[in-house]
Amino acid sequence: MEKMKANVFYGKNDIRIEEVERPHAGVGEAVIRITLTTICGTDLHILRGEYPVKPGLIIGHEPVGVIDELGPGLTGYNIGDRVLVGAITPCGQCRACLSGQLSQCGHGEGYEAIGGWRFGNTINGAQAEYLLVPNAQANLAKIPDELSDEQVVLLADIASTGFGGAQSGDIRIGDSVVEFAQGPIGLCATAGAKLMGATMVIGIDGDDSRLAMAQRMGADVVLDYRSVDVVAEVQRLTGGGADVAIEALGTPETFESALRSLRPGGTLSSLGVYSGKLQIPYEAFAAGLGDQRIVTTLCPGGKERMRRLMEVVKHGRVDFTPLITHTFPLEKISAAYELFGGRSDGVLKVAIKP
Ligand SMILES: NC(=O)c1ccc[n+]([C@@H]2O[C@H](COP(=O)([O-])OP(=O)(O)OC[C@H]3O[C@@H](n4cnc5c(N)ncnc54)[C@H](O)[C@@H]3O)[C@@H](O)[C@H]2O)c1
Ligand SMILES: [Zn+2]
Ligand SMILES: [Zn+2]
Repeated sequence: MEKMKANVFYGKNDIRIEEVERPHAGVGEAVIRITLTTICGTDLHILRGEYPVKPGLIIGHEPVGVIDELGPGLTGYNIGDRVLVGAITPCGQCRACLSGQLSQCGHGEGYEAIGGWRFGNTINGAQAEYLLVPNAQANLAKIPDELSDEQVVLLADIASTGFGGAQSGDIRIGDSVVEFAQGPIGLCATAGAKLMGATMVIGIDGDDSRLAMAQRMGADVVLDYRSVDVVAEVQRLTGGGADVAIEALGTPETFESALRSLRPGGTLSSLGVYSGKLQIPYEAFAAGLGDQRIVTTLCPGGKERMRRLMEVVKHGRVDFTPLITHTFPLEKISAAYELFGGRSDGVLKVAIKP
């Protein structure tokens, strides 16, 4: 039996690098040899026992690699092709996918909530030497020769999610946009808002290095929530409320502040992962008569999404490599989790090399 190294989840605060069985490609599947991956904030939720996955699962959902095996039924790919695979792997054939809701993919049937997120959630993930890619025809996106692994790895999840939040907010040229939290997701949403034509992008965080990065990613103004009444300041800067507010943290406080920062009829585009209850105060909601829109977005995936994001990078519209602040070999992934989870040493994203 061929073996490979992989990062296996066993329970709360218990992940281990182990030798496990190497996957092989069945019909419609491919195996890629991982050349670069990373750790997502959601992996921290898993490690801390806040998002349940089954013990024994290989975690991680941000794969860049080289095709190692192609199962029967795939066309247009060769062994050795460099590919990017989204964190979300839609089947491309179910009602959800064919209706354009790829992230809620039902795998050949109807809809399944969060069904498109399979790697490191319901099937083995990318923090390993090899990865089995399901529905490979819909999910293997060839990487243009001129792009490095580092230039594309963040497109699998955080850039797709951040851009997705800006797109779901229907940002228009000339809009004012406020971004609650400038972690990796919020920073990508800032870049996305700028790209979509927002002319006043306000980034909010409480970490100096992240506020500095927000300016580098396109924020026109940054506000430190530790020292500023951010809702009042957004109302002042925008002359009565932002057109779009993007929530990129997942707390009741930032959700409510995002709502209160909007102009009447504005859009709250929510990206954070919440737990517990969210309450909406009636006056922030104009008693239900304020014409606001509240939209949520799960990271868009599939090969066409990845192709489009790679075009954005290839043509120099956005460079995400400054967000990769540290690199670790797969064997040292526990140290990478510790650094990333502790937000120490100015970390934003860590690159993991098998
Ligand atoms: N929708 C999706 O598909 C999707 C995908 C990936 C991650 N997520 C979620 O997005 C959220 C953000 O992820 P991340 O990796 O960027 O998180 P992160 O924890 O790295 O960053 C959070 C940031 O929030 C800042 N912050 C804390 N309190 C704040 C406040 N009151 N106001 C403003 N900023 C504040 C922190 O300083 C930090 O920079 C998480 O909930 C994550 O699970 C969603
Ligand atoms: Zn993720
Ligand atoms: Zn589907």
